[in-house]
Amino acid sequence: MAIKSSTSPILLLAVTLVLAITTTTQANDPDILTDFITPNASAVNASFFTYSGLNGFFNTDPKNFTVLKASMIQFPALEGQSVSYAVLQFPPAGVNPPHTHPRAAELLIVLLGTLEVGFVDTKNVLYNQTLLEGDIFVFPKGLVHFQYNRNHNQSAIAVSAFGSANGGLLSVPKSVFTAGIDENVLAISFKTDVPTVQKIELGLMN
Ligand SMILES: *[C@@H]1O[C@H](CO)[C@@H](O)[C@H](O)[C@H]1NC(C)=O
Ligand SMILES: *[C@@H]1O[C@H](CO)[C@@H](O)[C@H](O)[C@H]1NC(C)=O
Ligand SMILES: *[C@@H]1O[C@H](CO)[C@@H](O)[C@H](O)[C@H]1NC(C)=O
Ligand SMILES: *[C@@H]1O[C@H](CO)[C@@H](O)[C@H](O)[C@H]1NC(C)=O
Ligand SMILES: *[C@@H]1O[C@H](CO)[C@@H](O)[C@H](O)[C@H]1NC(C)=O
Repeated sequence: MAIKSSTSPILLLAVTLVLAITTTTQANDPDILTDFITPNASAVNASFFTYSGLNGFFNTDPKNFTVLKASMIQFPALEGQSVSYAVLQFPPAGVNPPHTHPRAAELLIVLLGTLEVGFVDTKNVLYNQTLLEGDIFVFPKGLVHFQYNRNHNQSAIAVSAFGSANGGLLSVPKSVFTAGIDENVLAISFKTDVPTVQKIELGLMN
């Protein structure tokens, strides 16, 4: 676009704003200009498009909350395809702590048991729900969310699809308390004292 030097500053500002909005609303995986992406120029066969890393995922007796991912990290054929999966396994009373996926919405389906799930929007409103087997819930892109198996007697299993080949993960407890942010900053931010912050940090070490 050619903008003459005589163009008014207000118009320039408007154009800049429109460009900025257009770019920020396209926070999706980039489109690729080939059918698919291979890690090198080598020819591939159907095996490249097959991932068997989740075989036997159906662990109905998990000891801890576990996530098995099939993103482009584990499954390179997903690069450029804007999709990925994760299998979530919850022991009785298991929690997937508050976290966000900065690059993807998440579409979760409960395959076994029940799950209490929720997310918080930018107005700090909580949207939570108790999901039964077969229920599907969508976590909007980038928002803080959690899942909890409130049933203390039965495991739960869910599968999540993501609108990105690599949606990314920011765990709220880990990002805030284990990345090395100054303890005074945390104490002031959480309206508490440094020993309390240190106690939380210690609990997150293992
Ligand atoms: C190309 O990638 C394939 C699949 O990852 C790998 O098996 C092969 O060794 C690579 N070839 C070269 C020349 O790097
Ligand atoms: C597909 O390619 C892989 C790796 O290059 C190879 O091990 C496998 O035998 C091939 N499969 C078929 C059906 O040709
Ligand atoms: C499961 O959690 C317990 C208690 O937190 C821990 O001791 C154990 O190592 C964990 N097991 C696995 C397989 O991660
Ligand atoms: C939503 O969360 C509140 C507060 O934790 C809880 O009392 C309520 O049962 C939850 N609702 C559903 C539908 O899970
Ligand atoms: C779990 O089991 C205990 C003891 O068997 C029982 O008292 C309780 O009601 C059960 N809770 C649920 C949610 O099924």
